[in-house]
Amino acid sequence: MSAESLEASCSKTRNPFTGAEADAVSVKVEGLSKSFGDLSVLKNVSFDVKPGEIFVIMGPSGSGKSVLLRHIAGLDIPTSGKVTVEGLDPSLAESRDRVRLALVFQAGALFNSLSVYDNLALYPREHRSGDENAIRARVMHALKILSVEQSAQQFPSELSGGMKKRVSIARALVMEPQLLLYDEPTSELDPVMGATISEIIATLKNEYSVTSIVVTHDRSLALTIANRVGILMAGKLISLGSPDDLTKSKDPRIVDFLNPKIDIEHPRFKKLETKDNL
Ligand SMILES: Nc1ncnc2c1ncn2[C@@H]1O[C@H](COP(=O)(O)OP(=O)(O)OP(=O)(O)O)[C@@H](O)[C@H]1O
Ligand SMILES: [Mg+2]
Repeated sequence: MSAESLEASCSKTRNPFTGAEADAVSVKVEGLSKSFGDLSVLKNVSFDVKPGEIFVIMGPSGSGKSVLLRHIAGLDIPTSGKVTVEGLDPSLAESRDRVRLALVFQAGALFNSLSVYDNLALYPREHRSGDENAIRARVMHALKILSVEQSAQQFPSELSGGMKKRVSIARALVMEPQLLLYDEPTSELDPVMGATISEIIATLKNEYSVTSIVVTHDRSLALTIANRVGILMAGKLISLGSPDDLTKSKDPRIVDFLNPKIDIEHPRFKKLETKDNL
């Protein structure tokens, strides 16, 4: 993928309300806790993301990563603590007029009744960013970057899991966001496409200084392109540092998480059975 080809679809645009050029934004998470009934999912989580940074969040399944991302996108309201994007509460409608933010959902979240093309064209049409020819050029270019341009007229139900994932990333690129939130952007993709997604995230940072927060289980993505990596376990941020700090960590939870050993003699599920008397 050449720098010029990305530039055509991801170049900075002007804020439709202020006319100012879009700049990367900062994110601040302060003492964030979230419970669903009796279930405490996030426990006093705090961190800052700098403008233009690639901040990766890793952690076991069920540790609260998607819930954390939903709070940053303003889709969930904290039980206590707060999240701000460039000093603004992301859950308020007026903040969405000031900061352009896109979330790539874990399961894609495409509109099933719309074709792939119309899924991508929806945001620029609603925000009247350009005539239909300009929108078409932008949409088709984003689909091409993700190698799904052949699927423009198909519906989401006709796509494989990996194709849906790529279409949802293309949709986020078309929105030309200042803050991009990705929930498992490389899951369900073959290794080469996974590497392509990592390159896209890194290019958006280097050339357009987009701020990216990436939830992932992809160790190679985290260690290659992240500026910092936070590890979330059972709702707590147990570690925050550079990829280098992470690989040098002596914390047994992190060592086991990054390099789990398959031990056929002493399988984990047997230990769990004994512990919980299942
Ligand atoms: N809307 C909700 N209502 C009730 N419980 C929820 C809700 N959303 C998430 N949870 C619970 O919060 C916990 C964390 O969920 P979350 O989706 O954040 O996990 P995750 O770290 O993203 O896991 P995975 O790696 O499997 O995607 C889970 O126990 C889940 O059941
Ligand atoms: Mg998740």
